[in-house]
Amino acid sequence: MSAFSNKLLNWFQQHGRKDLPWQQQPTAYRVWISEIMLQQTQVKTVIPYYEKFMQSFPNVQTLAETSTDEVLHHWSGLGYYARARNLHKTAQLICEQYSGEFPRELDEMQALPGIGRSTAGAILSLAFKQRQTILDGNVKRVLTRYEAIEGWPGKVGVQKMLWKVAERHTPTDDIECYTQAIMDLGATLCTRSKPDCDTCPVRLECKANLTGRQKEFPYSKPKKVSPTKKKIFLILRNEKNEILLEKRPPTGIWGGLWSLPECEHEDDPEMVCQQRYGWNISEQEMLDIVRHTFSHFHLEITPLVAKVGVQKAVIMESEQTLWYNTDQVHHIGLAAPVAGLLKTLQE
Ligand code: ADE
Repeated sequence: MSAFSNKLLNWFQQHGRKDLPWQQQPTAYRVWISEIMLQQTQVKTVIPYYEKFMQSFPNVQTLAETSTDEVLHHWSGLGYYARARNLHKTAQLICEQYSGEFPRELDEMQALPGIGRSTAGAILSLAFKQRQTILDGNVKRVLTRYEAIEGWPGKVGVQKMLWKVAERHTPTDDIECYTQAIMDLGATLCTRSKPDCDTCPVRLECKANLTGRQKEFPYSKPKKVSPTKKKIFLILRNEKNEILLEKRPPTGIWGGLWSLPECEHEDDPEMVCQQRYGWNISEQEMLDIVRHTFSHFHLEITPLVAKVGVQKAVIMESEQTLWYNTDQVHHIGLAAPVAGLLKTLQE
């Protein structure tokens, strides 16, 4: 066993986390849901979502049988909604192709929507105690520091080297403890901005610590300036004061979520409504701009509230549109800024 994994395992016995909800009865299903939720989100945010999700969908069958909208509703607020859509697809695949049992082969696991190599490794090691390697963000930070690996970890060459290093340190025994230990070290001690090197079990061999270069690793992604897109979001109210929502196409930003009709900043909203729906609008009111940042651009939203007369409505696809009543609870997935706007309007 490498000195690294040995020290990490000893440290885990005393300082590792052992009371997280997904560590209780760690079935593949429970571990899978937790790993997907934890991909871009912190443990303390995930816990209440995880518990509610498990209550509603206690196993892969109940998840497969529900609607995507219901899954997105449970995901509302966690962000990165492709994760929820993939979760639903994978649950259905497992039920259809694997009789409801998770595959135990790395290749098969990795072929499932939303499950990459590291997540597959985490599920197989934590749930089935297989010797598999993981390399998530926490692990990359620990290993780039420990071995002083230069270059941005998203670069193919650096990534390859990191997998090799990660595999070299993966022990044969106590794999589930090691997997949790290396993630815990990254999450609790070897943090991005304030690593607590004084209490670290591997400080004496860590190249970054020995040379005082902890802040240098992992190397950041070379910066690109993201563009800003400006859009008008139409808040169209009918006679009953309900608001028109439209379902976004399944791919792209907010794929499958409900959102407000949009038009370009340069467009005339009155003309857009007339052309798109055959409606005249009245009593227009502009609300404060809302800004939302995505990984590759900023969105600047100008919300425009207007009354519409829908009696002359063009025929709309009923699956793709709905009239939203702000006084009722709707079990639908909403794009985050739209949820914010609807809440403001309700108040
Ligand atoms: N992040 C990803 N997986 C995790 C786990 N099993 N426990 C804590 N944090 C995690």
